[in-house]
Amino acid sequence: PGTHTADLVVFGGTGDLSMRKLIPALYHSDRDGRLSPEFRVIALSRGGLTDADFRGKVDAEVRDQVPADDQAGWQRFLGRLHHVSVDVGRHTGSDAGGDAGGTDTAGWGALTRLLAGHERRDRVFYLASPPRTFGPFCRELHEAGLVTPRSRVVLEKPLGHDLPSAQRINDEVGAIFDEHQIFRIDHYLGKETVQNLLVLRFANAFLEPIWNSLWIDHVQITAAETVGTPGRRGYYDHAGALRDMVQNHLLQLLTLTAMEPPARSDREAVRDEKVKVLQALRPITGTEVDRFTVRGQYVGADGMPGYLDEPASTPPTEASRRVETFTAIRAEVKNWRWAGVPFYLRTGKRMPYRRSEIVVQFKDVPHSIYPGGAPNRLVLRLQPEEGIQLHIMAKEPGAGEVTLKPVPLSLSFGETFTTRVPEAYERLLTDVLAGNPTLFMRRDEVEAAWRWIDPILHAWESQAELPEPYPAGTTGPAGAHELLGRSGRTWHEEDA
Ligand code: BG6
Repeated sequence: PGTHTADLVVFGGTGDLSMRKLIPALYHSDRDGRLSPEFRVIALSRGGLTDADFRGKVDAEVRDQVPADDQAGWQRFLGRLHHVSVDVGRHTGSDAGGDAGGTDTAGWGALTRLLAGHERRDRVFYLASPPRTFGPFCRELHEAGLVTPRSRVVLEKPLGHDLPSAQRINDEVGAIFDEHQIFRIDHYLGKETVQNLLVLRFANAFLEPIWNSLWIDHVQITAAETVGTPGRRGYYDHAGALRDMVQNHLLQLLTLTAMEPPARSDREAVRDEKVKVLQALRPITGTEVDRFTVRGQYVGADGMPGYLDEPASTPPTEASRRVETFTAIRAEVKNWRWAGVPFYLRTGKRMPYRRSEIVVQFKDVPHSIYPGGAPNRLVLRLQPEEGIQLHIMAKEPGAGEVTLKPVPLSLSFGETFTTRVPEAYERLLTDVLAGNPTLFMRRDEVEAAWRWIDPILHAWESQAELPEPYPAGTTGPAGAHELLGRSGRTWHEEDA
């Protein structure tokens, strides 16, 4: 692998995402020899920290991820870290569109001095800050003369809270950066199994001929989490599961499952096919939400608090009562390949297990000569342990009557490959540094996803009913089971 020389400027550089994901990912890249000696990380925050303070903070928070035999490497990595105090928070109180009046001249001056003389390096501005700051920050960078032809900008989710706000952000950022310089992160696309889905489909001959409505009964995409939302109510009250997980992560998984084979593996070919899937999603509008969507909110059970009782700095409001922590949706991709095949999407907080997977349920054999068969099922597990299982029917050993038993043909990535599996963020940061946007969302993709989500949000907002309660630690409200049960289907639950 090549080494990268770049200045990586992180807005929100001392925040949670930076400390938990970005800094560890960069350290691992460094350890694998992918960063040149000149590579620098410049964290921006209001914190008033010196470089030494920032390095101390990182050392305290991340050191436990450093192997004992790499203390020298860790010290070298810390030496790459810098901190500049900019009052980036001035924008956070303003509306999307921003308040240009708050320029912190001293802070921008300090950043300009640090970057001066390095204009020919790649420059990456990573915006790990709230979306309403994206436009204003880009404008500030431009006005300070910091955007070079070799600059890129990385945008963290959520990219807006509906279609108009996403378009506004895209316009504002697009006024300063060209589309090829803009990297919109969806960290699910950095997960190993997600990339393996494309390899499985397009580097093997046996699947593609049966990957259609003739052979597939339905698809299930689940992202179940055991965590609740402690301390996150400020964000979550206005997000909810549909915006937080479905608009991005689940729809991305759906596009990769449903897309047509691209002609090449390059950035535009793959993304062109993904957009077509989003455009083919059948809209769910008005009263249809009652048939095709379910929303739930967890209530206290088994010693676990309900959503409204989670620790938070402010008491629950009407928005808290209305927000969904679980949703299940029956989606349809209206094209030749998928006509009549439901795609069931499901995600929730405080479910009994943490598991993200894509389940492809095949149809039954056309004519059965044995009793007790069950149709084939392909399970692509993204987490916790990554793997692929194909459930097939086999004969149970023994004389006498033939007895069928479903058995998994199983591939565990952990057991098959001994190489370290990089975290999603490490993979994606490597791609940003290499200038490869294939695994990032293009503008039209993000907007197509919102175009499908918005009518569901509007229909929910116009309903008087609150989300269906479900006890913490369970698989969601009864409605989620009825959504499949109506057509005689069930969610894939077993741990096989
Ligand atoms: C984030 C959401 O995008 O994804 C979180 O904002 C969620 O609410 C997280 O917990 C899940 O990510 P992962 O990688 O743990 O599945």
